[in-house]
Amino acid sequence: MRHFLQENDFSMEETAEVFSYAFELKSNRSKRPTTDLVGQSWGMIFFKQSTRTRVSFEVGIRELGGNPLILDQSSTQIGRGESIADTAKVLSRFLDGLIIRAHGHEIIETFAKHSSIPVVNALTDFLHPCQIFADCMTLLEKMNTGTNPFVGLRGKKLAFFGDTSCNMANSWILAGAMFGMEISLCGPEAFKPGRNILELLENHNLSPTWSFTPTPEDGAKDADVVYTDVWVSMGCEEDSKSRLASMQPYQVDEKIMASAKDNCLFMHCMPAHPGEEVNQSVLDSEYSILFDQAENRLHMQKAILSKLSQSNHTI
Ligand code: CP
Repeated sequence: MRHFLQENDFSMEETAEVFSYAFELKSNRSKRPTTDLVGQSWGMIFFKQSTRTRVSFEVGIRELGGNPLILDQSSTQIGRGESIADTAKVLSRFLDGLIIRAHGHEIIETFAKHSSIPVVNALTDFLHPCQIFADCMTLLEKMNTGTNPFVGLRGKKLAFFGDTSCNMANSWILAGAMFGMEISLCGPEAFKPGRNILELLENHNLSPTWSFTPTPEDGAKDADVVYTDVWVSMGCEEDSKSRLASMQPYQVDEKIMASAKDNCLFMHCMPAHPGEEVNQSVLDSEYSILFDQAENRLHMQKAILSKLSQSNHTI
């Protein structure tokens, strides 16, 4: 069974096809209905809050002709302790696919292990692959470098500011190694990337393309893109005070943007907290592309679901 739990779950060829199809779906959205998921029901389980992911998946499944079902954990037996293994086996009898947002990455891995339908990672504490694919699509679009990320993103430098141990930083470390991008991580020493993402690269024979600096003046040097995410991710609220204090020097402002290349883009996966990880004027600036990133979640996720659906039907 094919799943999309991490960015490199598709082969290079499949990844290029997914990106190409996402661009096609975007340019044809208003012209023709797509029928890739006709007759299919896809479940969505969110153990954490979501706006963009939940709405874009629900709309995307409908636009592909399928039927989305929102399965709130608190109103199902999962909330009362039914095992993930049993839940996955039962849902596999009813559904054609499952989209899950969870805290621990092991939760979606367990779902995938016990499911006979494709499972899609809609964010875990470890990785956010759907966001990264949509972000890479947005970069290709804005840089006008084609539709293939292995070609169009090669050699580009992305500077990630703030909590460089978070799921978005991990996903950029992985995507950077896949697509040949230089990833410059800049944040407090206490929030450097963890062992788990380094092991993932090693286990997949991917050479690291990232570096780390705690010096804000150095982090964005020669960058094509500056990226940041919230300083207090979902589930990290307990140490929010110390996080906010230690990350203050890494707020993306005009000075950081000026240290990057001319025409450097600013990206944020949202929700944004102006005055914390980024200031309002950078968010509102002409080089800020966060709403394009958000929109591309829809097109990219439709392409991912379509690919999984095709792959699983031919097996
Ligand atoms: N970026 C993102 O995943 O947004 P949501 O948490 O609103 O889904």
